[in-house]
Amino acid sequence: MKERIEKILKELDELKCQSAKEVEEARVRFLGKKGEVTALFEEFRTVAPEMKREFGQKLNVLKKEAQAKIDELKSMAETAAGPASKGDDVTMPGDPHELGSRHPVSIARQEIINIFRKFGYDVAEGPEIEDDYHVFEALNFPANHPARDMQDTFFVSTGHVNPLLLRTHTSSVQVRTMETQSLPIRVICPGRVFRNEAISARAHCIFHQVEGLYIDENVSFADLKQAILLFAREMFGPETSIRMRPSYFPFTEPSAEVDVSCNICHGKGCNICKGTGWLEILGCGMVDPNVLEASGIDSKKYSGFAFGMGVERIAMLKWQVNDLRHYFENDLRFLREFSNCVEV
Ligand code: DAH
Repeated sequence: MKERIEKILKELDELKCQSAKEVEEARVRFLGKKGEVTALFEEFRTVAPEMKREFGQKLNVLKKEAQAKIDELKSMAETAAGPASKGDDVTMPGDPHELGSRHPVSIARQEIINIFRKFGYDVAEGPEIEDDYHVFEALNFPANHPARDMQDTFFVSTGHVNPLLLRTHTSSVQVRTMETQSLPIRVICPGRVFRNEAISARAHCIFHQVEGLYIDENVSFADLKQAILLFAREMFGPETSIRMRPSYFPFTEPSAEVDVSCNICHGKGCNICKGTGWLEILGCGMVDPNVLEASGIDSKKYSGFAFGMGVERIAMLKWQVNDLRHYFENDLRFLREFSNCVEV
């Protein structure tokens, strides 16, 4: 038995196969049901008990070697033959990589930026985790003033004079710009904002705003109106008209809310504009002198205007999307509708 084991080991050592078929034949010859190695295991039953230990070990080694050799030859045969041997058609074109497209909120934000860039505005950014001073105090929201309740705030830290919070509006970037830039200032500030609000078709706890600020000598309300009108026409089409309604914001005086003529019914009244012919797009006003002074700007010499708009809102109106949640669910069927959108 010992000689036969050695003979098979030697044969295995010298074994060479040209194809997968030959490897299979070799496997059957050694390890198949009637194979040489299998036969030795049969014979092992008749080996004298005192020899069983020695032969048992030898046989196990042999079986392992045989299996390893067959595996090795098999993979060599497969590599040599290439993928075609497995029935693959190597001439078939590959699967195309699907390209993503820009998110509608990014498209709208970039479009707003591009329009104001054309008017000569720079882009400024600020932190999303802000302090109470830049979000409220410097914008003329005194402590405990009820106007703070207009925006439900997520606090990061409480209990001290100037707590950290997630900014509720990008107006905080106005303050940082006034603190650091020299006059005149003409900036827009795009960014994410956060409010502790229940998610619905019209509200979300995270959304995007673009803030605008223009400060120079002799800036008037007429300048503000003209800037907003030009913006609205670039964004919603040259026929668009605007109207301003008196409003209140702590950081502007006077303040206004701006509506654009409904781009669907052109003023006749439809269910998007709720029969009014107008759609609200932003808040604005003349920067309150208190706000200028808080950032060290002489309010006797300088004046300015500011405005703020929600990017999702602009995008909803532009593309007639009736539920804000579509922008956050990332349903590919929705996102693909914007794959051909090109910014102005
Ligand atoms: N910060 C306001 C908000 O989030 C929007 C706003 C209104 C910004 C009037 C302004 C402004 O700069 O003048 O609701």
